[in-house]
Amino acid sequence: MKQDKNMPAGAKMSRTIDWDDSDSSILMVDQTLLPGEYKIIKCKTIADVCEAILNLRIRGAPALGVCGAFAVALSATLSSAKTVEGLLKDMTVAGETIKKTRPTAINLSWGVDRVLSIAEEEGYDPKLVRDIALHEAKKMADEDVELNKKIGKHGAKLLKDGDVVLTHCNAGKMACVDWGTALGVIRSAVSDGKKITVVACETRPLNQGSRITCWELLEDKIPVHLITDSAAGFFMANGSVTKVIVGADRITQGAVFNKIGTYSLSVLAKEHDIPFYVAAPVSTFDPAGFDEAVPIEMRPEDEIRYIGKAKELNAPVGVSIKNPAFDMTPMENVSALITEKGVFCPPILIDEIIID
Ligand code: MRU
Repeated sequence: MKQDKNMPAGAKMSRTIDWDDSDSSILMVDQTLLPGEYKIIKCKTIADVCEAILNLRIRGAPALGVCGAFAVALSATLSSAKTVEGLLKDMTVAGETIKKTRPTAINLSWGVDRVLSIAEEEGYDPKLVRDIALHEAKKMADEDVELNKKIGKHGAKLLKDGDVVLTHCNAGKMACVDWGTALGVIRSAVSDGKKITVVACETRPLNQGSRITCWELLEDKIPVHLITDSAAGFFMANGSVTKVIVGADRITQGAVFNKIGTYSLSVLAKEHDIPFYVAAPVSTFDPAGFDEAVPIEMRPEDEIRYIGKAKELNAPVGVSIKNPAFDMTPMENVSALITEKGVFCPPILIDEIIID
């Protein structure tokens, strides 16, 4: 995968992920390099997209959804099939390959399936299938920005001037196409003129909080304090955190699945009577999902065994390591779900939110 040559040095994309019409490829910010370097890369093949997802160059549930959608559109442009059946078969195979890369964020399969199903329903010749797939993927990217703005608008009402909001991982513009979910709520509150301070958890082992959330907030001049994950209890106990807002990778009727450490934060928030909010689009809902059956992605041991690009040893080479990427927060720990459809307080019934 190469750096995009069409972008002048230092240029930034207004979006985290986009389609390049000039050569039918996917453009994305390589998030593994932040905050040290802002580099835009190009995915020209499905293998490029899989590599980017697996290595978290692109990450965050909504961004993965749009990436899955663009990947199916990409597979359509790459396929040499001359018939609708052959083309749809190639797109389905590519979609299945993409879906397997990261199992927990339901948006990834949602993005793949949405493009596939509209192409199947409406594409009666191969050119139309290709056009429809790309049109739908672009539409999903536009929608993601609109939805995040709505989430932000609804969620901002929960924040008051002077709030100190703890967040975990990165649920900002880099996790979406733009604006963000949890950080989108904070951005909207700040746009409304409220003074909000953010406490960002580092989010070991890949440090999406320190590397990406802090970078985003500094770019936007929103005050932020970085803390280690293990300091969260200290700051909640001493009264310096007034609210917690996180994003989600999947929401079932019974639980919220999000970055490892979210569950512990929810327990701490409950203990200290601090509102614990989850901000996510309805595309993150999995109404048929059975909590214990939701796949939790186990990441490579070496993400914990070594630190940094220099791969300094953080643990003995031979030690056994367990590295779950996500955990499950029971719905009873959630004070409200913030979605594009509004703010939903307990009892939270996700089926009703979907049909609302
Ligand atoms: O492993 P990641 O970086 O993809 O995990 C991301 C998260 O856990 C986010 O909180 C979640 O996807 C919501 S992003 C709006």
